[in-house]
Amino acid sequence: MTSTYAVLSEGLEKRFGAVHALRGLDLAVATGTVCGILGPNGAGKTTAVRLLTTLLRPDAGSARIAGHDLVREAAAVRRKIGVTGQYASVDGDLTGRENLRLFARLHRVRGPAERAGELLDRFGLAEAANRAASTYSGGMRRRLDLAASLIRRPEVLFLDEPTTGLDPASRNLIWSAVRDLTAEGTTVLLTTQYLEEADQLAHDIALVDRGRVAHTGSPAQLKSLIGTHVEVVVADADVLAKAAAVLDRLTGAQPSFDHERNAVGAVSRDSTLTLPRLVRELDAAGVPLLDASLRPPTLDDVFLQLTDDHQERAA
Ligand SMILES: Nc1ncnc2c1ncn2[C@@H]1O[C@H](COP(=O)(O)OP(=O)(O)OP(=O)(O)O)[C@@H](O)[C@H]1O
Ligand SMILES: [Mg+2]
Repeated sequence: MTSTYAVLSEGLEKRFGAVHALRGLDLAVATGTVCGILGPNGAGKTTAVRLLTTLLRPDAGSARIAGHDLVREAAAVRRKIGVTGQYASVDGDLTGRENLRLFARLHRVRGPAERAGELLDRFGLAEAANRAASTYSGGMRRRLDLAASLIRRPEVLFLDEPTTGLDPASRNLIWSAVRDLTAEGTTVLLTTQYLEEADQLAHDIALVDRGRVAHTGSPAQLKSLIGTHVEVVVADADVLAKAAAVLDRLTGAQPSFDHERNAVGAVSRDSTLTLPRLVRELDAAGVPLLDASLRPPTLDDVFLQLTDDHQERAA
């Protein structure tokens, strides 16, 4: 059965003793999209992935994955998904090729040798295919782990921090694999500490904070919650008020002053404001400028402003 949402959860809760790791997690991931789960350490990202992949049972709440009930149809869910964890699952004593062939046979994939070869090529592991996985670098192991999770062509792929600690080349291989998979119709849910990764890959982002989804939206929508920082530095304190009036008019936001630097700044929600226009308007108002800057928000700004920094941190 295909449905609009490949992952749909409502009110998922999980406690570990005194720790309330998930406190009502609501998620909706549209089929064929990439959803990025962002959040500080200890926010509950890994717990969410373990619940959604049937590795842990929720204490409360419900979810449907690829059209199946997470708890009542756990076996069907498992057949539709692929998972790679923060900790790899490959066997170090076997070669890369043997690992993939074994997974292929376990999952009764047709042509296990061909499928293994195809995935080794795709993840740049062909040369190392006949070496024990224990001799692989961290990045190679991670790629092998991802290849193993794709053996069965899952409908929904869960990736828990797929590129943490990887070099740029390995990261790019994983990013392009994720893009290829989505082009083929796979839904991907990934957790990440790298805001750039979410910006590059995710159609939608769920910002998780203290076991709940605090904000959702596309990267652009989340950035528009923050706005663009505009700052003007003038040569003479006398014209600061004039500069502020221009900023007020252009941004519709309350300007703030830094009198020591003769600077005035504001946060603009208007994404069409450009630096040339800002400079032109200031010039027309007769404001001599030392400096003017527009800094569009990054996901880092979103992350820092929208998550509570004072929560309990995971070790
Ligand atoms: N098996 C467990 N036993 C006890 N507490 C746990 C267990 N697993 C997770 N927790 C706690 O639940 C909370 C959420 O942990 P989780 O691993 O889901 O966070 P995370 O968002 O993945 O963090 P990170 O960014 O560090 O990977 C933390 O406070 C953590 O210490
Ligand atoms: Mg984690």
